[in-house]
Amino acid sequence: MSDRTQERMPKNARKNVKTRTSKSEQMLMTRIEDGSVTVGVIGLGYVGLPIAVEFAKAGIHTIGLDLDERKVKQLNARKNYLQDLSDAEVAGVVKSGHLTATTSSADLAKCDVIYICVPTPFTDNKDPDVSHILHATQSIASVLRKGQLIILKSTTFPGTTERYVQPILDKTKLKCGSDYFLAFSPERIDPGNTKWTTATTPVVVGGVTPTCTNLAVAINKRIIAQVVPVSNPRVAELEKLLENIFRSVNIALVNELAQLCDRMGINIWEVVEAAATKPFGFMPFYPGPGIGGHCILIDPYYLSWAAREHDFVTNFITLAAEVNESMPFYVRGMIEREIAKQPVRLSDAKVLLLGMAFKRDVDDLRHSPALKVAELLLADGVKHVSYYDPYIPEVAVGGRVLKSHPSLTSTILAKHDVVVITTDHSAIDVDFIAKHAKVIVDTRNATKKLKRSRKNVVLLGEGR
Ligand SMILES: NC(=O)c1ccc[n+]([C@@H]2O[C@H](COP(=O)([O-])OP(=O)(O)OC[C@H]3O[C@@H](n4cnc5c(N)ncnc54)[C@H](O)[C@@H]3O)[C@@H](O)[C@H]2O)c1
Repeated sequence: MSDRTQERMPKNARKNVKTRTSKSEQMLMTRIEDGSVTVGVIGLGYVGLPIAVEFAKAGIHTIGLDLDERKVKQLNARKNYLQDLSDAEVAGVVKSGHLTATTSSADLAKCDVIYICVPTPFTDNKDPDVSHILHATQSIASVLRKGQLIILKSTTFPGTTERYVQPILDKTKLKCGSDYFLAFSPERIDPGNTKWTTATTPVVVGGVTPTCTNLAVAINKRIIAQVVPVSNPRVAELEKLLENIFRSVNIALVNELAQLCDRMGINIWEVVEAAATKPFGFMPFYPGPGIGGHCILIDPYYLSWAAREHDFVTNFITLAAEVNESMPFYVRGMIEREIAKQPVRLSDAKVLLLGMAFKRDVDDLRHSPALKVAELLLADGVKHVSYYDPYIPEVAVGGRVLKSHPSLTSTILAKHDVVVITTDHSAIDVDFIAKHAKVIVDTRNATKKLKRSRKNVVLLGEGR
């Protein structure tokens, strides 16, 4: 281990550092340092593909593995499918031969380092589903050889790396820490964020042994500016959950306050902006129609589930989830109240949702609160629910397939009884909407930018 790496390690991570190195470790470190290493990435989604492209751009031979044949075919045809990556950079690394995609797990045998970037969803009962991680690990175990480093990146509960992944790999009789190496290094990518990218966002690394940490730090440093080693995989697993639970709890707090503000007649958005002028000790979070995506909604449940084994109830986390998941229901109430004020029956009312993606300017629909709002309205018998989202051409909801309006015209806006801003995509022109819509239910404070009268606007947490 280099002195510089050790200096950055926490004290308790440092004291276990071994001085004897195995041949496998030495060979792998040499390959990492001279760039002759081959990197494998399992799961070419929002997390895996940017990592694979980053390694390929660094001139490192990279193999991407995915079960989804369409993604593999697209990549090998030099076609990009991720909004966060440029078409030219994807085409460039495939053309140069630095990145190849495959559906065959046998190709993992060629890789010295393998990143696991597969989904970690929850079950219908909201228990963790780590089956994708286990499946990916089985694929690795079938080809595991001396000198390979496995880095799990999927967000998961503390103990997954050592209690679920390692035992599968240990069955090969190869020894973790000297024959093969294993670490957890969570992903922090924020799709749509152009400032903080794969290369510029610091990452945390926790290896099963100090050697595992050392190697995982070295490979990450090939593409990432700052790598932060921690004592073990459990610290890394829990710090990732802390990051996301921190957001979930704070968003829940403002969502609860938004509901209170509606009763008190105080504008929550103005309250948050005012509080944010404090230069220390406060970080603004904003209310909305609920949380979505593959992370903030799901991850708290991973920790609550793991806590149960320790006879511990995660009250804060559970309460935050309860408040956040109640928001689409709250918004449904706002919409139906606006319908009730008009001479139209609920079943005949026309509701237009603006934005289906779970957050602004992304094409990710996973667990989107807008989808939940649509589902609740349909379940209440509102037959005419339609939407406009430039990033989401169609959605399946409540047993129906809805297609986005191809564009947002004055006629479309005027013929709906309520227009709801569910996602504040920057392409949405609020002045145009306010000019033509009868009533706007704004769940994102997008109408803050309005230059015209706010007469027809009902804002979440404004108390009007
Ligand atoms: N999306 C984000 O913004 C984000 C941010 C941080 C962390 N994460 C975490 O990263 C992990 C991956 O998330 P994602 O958003 O990239 O998911 P994704 O659904 O976009 O991509 C996952 C890919 O893995 C593939 N896959 C699943 N099982 C496989 C297997 N056994 N072998 C090969 N390929 C397999 C799928 O086909 C899919 O293409 C999750 O744990 C998530 O919580 C995601």
